[in-house]
Order: sequence, then C-alpha cells, then structure tokens
Amino acid sequence: MREQLKKQEKLASLGILSAGIAHEIQNPLNFVINFSKMSGKLLNDLKELVDDNEDNLAEDDREEVNDIIADLEENMSKITEHGERAISIIRGILLVSRGKENEFLPTDIVRLTKEYVWLSYHAMRANFKNFNITIHESYQDDIPQLMVIPQDLSRAILNVMNNACFAVWKKSKDMADNSYMPTIDVEVKTVDGDLLIAIGDNGEGMTAEVKERLYENFFTTKPIGQGTGLGMGITREIIEEKHHGKITFESEPGEGTRFTFTIPIRTR
Ligand SMILES: Nc1ncnc2c1ncn2[C@@H]1O[C@H](COP(=O)(O)OP(=O)(O)OP(=O)(O)O)[C@@H](O)[C@H]1O
Ligand SMILES: [Mg+2]
Repeated sequence: MREQLKKQEKLASLGILSAGIAHEIQNPLNFVINFSKMSGKLLNDLKELVDDNEDNLAEDDREEVNDIIADLEENMSKITEHGERAISIIRGILLVSRGKENEFLPTDIVRLTKEYVWLSYHAMRANFKNFNITIHESYQDDIPQLMVIPQDLSRAILNVMNNACFAVWKKSKDMADNSYMPTIDVEVKTVDGDLLIAIGDNGEGMTAEVKERLYENFFTTKPIGQGTGLGMGITREIIEEKHHGKITFESEPGEGTRFTFTIPIRTR
C-alpha cells in the first residue's frame, strides 16, 4: 500500500509539474507565433518594394528574389501553424490539470487521429535526424461526429503513436542491413456500434515480460530521459475507464505490435 501511495504521490506531483511547465512555455510560444506573423507582414512589404523596383533588377535576380520571398512566406506560415498547434496542446494540458477534463464533446475522430499521428511523426523526425517512417493511413470517410473526450483521446493516440515510432526506430538501429522499412499503419473505422482506432508498427515487438508489465506505471524499457513508463497506464485509463472501451494488442518480438482501441459509439 505504501508503494501504491508513493506512486500516486509521484503521479500527482507529475501533474502539477507538467501544468507548471505548460504554463511557462505559453509565453515564449506566443512570442514565436507573433514574431512569425509580424515577419510575414514585413515580407509582404518587401515584396511590394521589389515589385515597385522591378525595372532596377536584372531578370535573373528578380526571379531569385521572388523565389526566396515565396520560400520565406511558406516557412513563416509553417512556423505559425505548428506554433499554434503547440499552443493548443499546452492548452490541453492546462485544461486537464485545471480539472476541466472528462468533458465529452462532438468530435471529428478522423481529423483528431490524423492530427496526432502526424504530430508524433514530426516530433520523432525532430528527435532522430535522418530517420524516416512510412505511414499508411486508412480512414473510413463517413464517420459522423462522435462524443468523446478529445483532450484525452488525442493523448491516448499520441502515446501509442510515440511508442510505435520508438519501436521502429529501435529496430532499425538494431538491424545490421538496411533492407528494413520502418512502417506504421493507422486505421479508423466503425464496426457494429463501436469505433475502432488501430495503430500497428513493424518495430521491435514485445517480449512476454514487457506484455505482462505494459500497463504498470513507471515500467519502461527505454533509456533514462526517453520514457517515464506512464504512457500505456494513462492510455488504458483513458480508453477503458473514461470511454468505457477496451484496448487490445497483438505483438511478436522482432515482428511488430498492433494496438486497437474499441470504443462504444456515443453520438450524444
Ligand atoms: N509499439 C510498441 N512496440 C514495442 N514495445 C512497446 C510498444 N508500446 C509499448 N511498448 C513497451 O511498453 C513499455 C511501456 O510503454 P509506456 O508507453 O507505458 O512507457 P514508455 O513509452 O516507456 O514511456 P512514456 O510513454 O511514459 O514516455 C515501453 O517502454 C516499451 O517497452
Ligand atoms: Mg510511451
């Protein structure tokens, strides 16, 4: 019981810590977004200036200047877009830690899934330079808005996606030859009153011990700093307790792993 209590205390302080961090990150992020918007406006001015002075520039130079400006515009809008995404994640963390959790809202499940799948992908790309993954997506296209807790469901998807990314990265690192194609499959569909979200990878797979301890808090096989061992415990709570669904998985060491969330459909 003492062990259990200790873990719960650890969890609670982790919540407070992440809320604190989320709060602190908000300000610099706002700076990033605002400066990138401002730079976008400055670029516009620059473009007008170049257009006005068209005749003073050699054609080659003019073309190059226009190309550079177009690239910069694209970059600025990417910075704004991803910055805003980060802000919305931070908001999610703050919302949860303020206790506004557990709110079921009508949600476009495919859109939410896509967003977090690619968020995880880009985070992985930023962490492991020169590493790439093929992602196959299969989304049923007529799924209506369903009632879920979007903050939580997105976190569950992100956790499982992050694990999948890590598993394929780990396998590619352990493989001697380069015939291995790291691949992740994402599927969203409805079957007989249930919503199914499945994420499969062809990564390192799980041994019997890992399968056994998968949902244990603080159980991780990752190096220090790479994992806290909370992801799957939180994910199970989100799917099974909050959404009254079920998590299942199949996994073969050396072959890969596939997680499926089965959630009873609620439309109101
Ligand atoms: N797709 C997967 N392929 C192989 N092993 C996995 C996969 N998903 C989870 N695991 C194993 O289960 C362990 C626990 O996963 P969990 O998500 O709970 O923690 P973590 O990923 O180690 O850390 P955290 O998610 O808190 O950053 C992982 O360390 C890993 O060994
Ligand atoms: Mg994890």
